[in-house]
Amino acid sequence: MNAVPGITLNDGNTIPQLGFGVFQIEPEDTAEAVSEALRIGYRHIDTAEMYANEKEVGDAIRASGLDRSEVFITSKLSNAAHDPRDAREAFDRTLSDLGFDYVDLFLIHWPLPMLYGGDFVSTWKTLEEFDSDGRARSIGVSNFQVEHLERLAAETETVPAVNQIEVHPYLTNEAVRSYGREHGIATEAWSPIAQGAVLDDPTITKIAEKVGKTPAQVVLRWHIQRGDIVFPKSVTPSRIKENFEIFDLELGSEDMEGISALDRGEQGRTGAHPDTFAYAPN
Ligand SMILES: NC(=O)c1ccc[n+]([C@@H]2O[C@H](COP(=O)([O-])OP(=O)(O)OC[C@H]3O[C@@H](n4cnc5c(N)ncnc54)[C@H](OP(=O)(O)O)[C@@H]3O)[C@@H](O)[C@H]2O)c1
Repeated sequence: MNAVPGITLNDGNTIPQLGFGVFQIEPEDTAEAVSEALRIGYRHIDTAEMYANEKEVGDAIRASGLDRSEVFITSKLSNAAHDPRDAREAFDRTLSDLGFDYVDLFLIHWPLPMLYGGDFVSTWKTLEEFDSDGRARSIGVSNFQVEHLERLAAETETVPAVNQIEVHPYLTNEAVRSYGREHGIATEAWSPIAQGAVLDDPTITKIAEKVGKTPAQVVLRWHIQRGDIVFPKSVTPSRIKENFEIFDLELGSEDMEGISALDRGEQGRTGAHPDTFAYAPN
């Protein structure tokens, strides 16, 4: 049985703990990959304006014959649109590209503390508008460090429902995860298999052999048992299926701890550092 558990967010909404990510899927390949994921049973898709494939995500969901309410859709604000007026336009564009009148979850993609005079607070207040008018059922952030979350707590009303951050066995990101745990912010782990980099690790391959699963399944299961939300990306049908089949095993505490001990701290980070990332598309 592959029943994906739901995680209840701090606003009462429920998100499927396992979803499907579409970062770096070319627009022309996106509808096929998302259709395959929906066929296998995924009901949660993670996209972003900066992935340039929201339209194809919407097309695949419509073509699946599933009701809109059966699929949880997340999208994210472009780094180019933090100014409130731009953010309103960008959100309209996201809904129009998806072809739906709401998203389940909308995130600030990056805090960009070195751009916009360091102001992500007015951006967050703009997301609160989308939440109030019902066009974003939940709102959250991505790549926020503890100090960014503390600033939102001090200066705004709404606690983000989620914080989507880089987490995998080589970067367990404990400080940010534990702030989230203490303040009711669910952690979403991006690049959950470090884009494949952790799959040859001997600790992981040994556990995989022992439990009769693949390294990717073991790592995704580790995330699930830690309580994080994951959405591995793949354009390969056999892997899309493999990544979904992680609910018929339970890792013991020794294996869980062994994987967590692979943490390399900052050296394990594969993506940009949120404190210094300052990219905005034209
Ligand atoms: N908020 C952010 O800033 C941010 C940043 C990065 C990612 N994300 C989100 O997180 C999602 C997942 O992260 P990601 O795409 O960076 O990386 P990922 O899911 O950790 O890894 C994807 C890579 O691993 C391969 N792969 C997938 N399943 C596999 C398996 N079972 N065995 C072996 N290889 C496998 C894929 O290859 P093939 O596709 O060739 O099969 C692809 O190259 C993204 O799609 C996006 O939704 C968010």
